[in-house]
Amino acid sequence: MKFTVITGSPRKYSTSNYLADQFIKGAKENGHRVYKFDAFSANVNNCIACNACNMGSGVCIHKDDFEKLKKHILESDVIVFATPVYYFGMSSSIKKVIDRFYSIDSQLKALYNKSVFITSQHSKAEGITNIINSHYSAIANWLGFKNAGIINAIGIESIDQIKQTPYPKQAYELGKSFQ
Ligand SMILES: Cc1cc2nc3c(=O)[nH]c(=O)nc-3n(C[C@H](O)[C@H](O)[C@H](O)COP(=O)(O)O)c2cc1C
Repeated sequence: MKFTVITGSPRKYSTSNYLADQFIKGAKENGHRVYKFDAFSANVNNCIACNACNMGSGVCIHKDDFEKLKKHILESDVIVFATPVYYFGMSSSIKKVIDRFYSIDSQLKALYNKSVFITSQHSKAEGITNIINSHYSAIANWLGFKNAGIINAIGIESIDQIKQTPYPKQAYELGKSFQ
């Protein structure tokens, strides 16, 4: 199988990125191919709703890093989104990339891919995970992705600390679970 893993944290020592790496480790150990895309440092423009793509033709007026990502996404069986929780939602970096899915919307719907959602948040309030997970679920349903797993790391401060929690092992095992 092929995986595309999109990360959305701006932090060098990102905990959501760390969980994504554990997921990747598990997937690679099972012989899967993985393409990782750092949404924060990539050059991806905002969708400007010009509708030149007609919501799925794949033709976008922007010529940027999304063109490369698009090829990998359309070849993938599983799309993984790993993001810090920012104001009860995804980071703007990863959301900006998802908005660009508009240009491949109908193509994605025809693929029936699987998706995985990984989040990291400072608060221990589980109510926040309900909010962000329902946004993810709505996106996945819209695009025809079958949810293949969600990991919400809560009460997280740093990589040293997250290593003391069950979340890295959960991410690794989730990555390894795909056959
Ligand atoms: C702009 C911003 C908004 C944030 N909003 C929330 C929030 O709504 N809830 C929360 O629990 N933590 C919030 N945090 C904390 C991050 O979610 C937390 O530090 C997370 O573990 C960072 O993930 P990362 O290590 O992958 O960057 C916010 C942090 C920033 C910088």
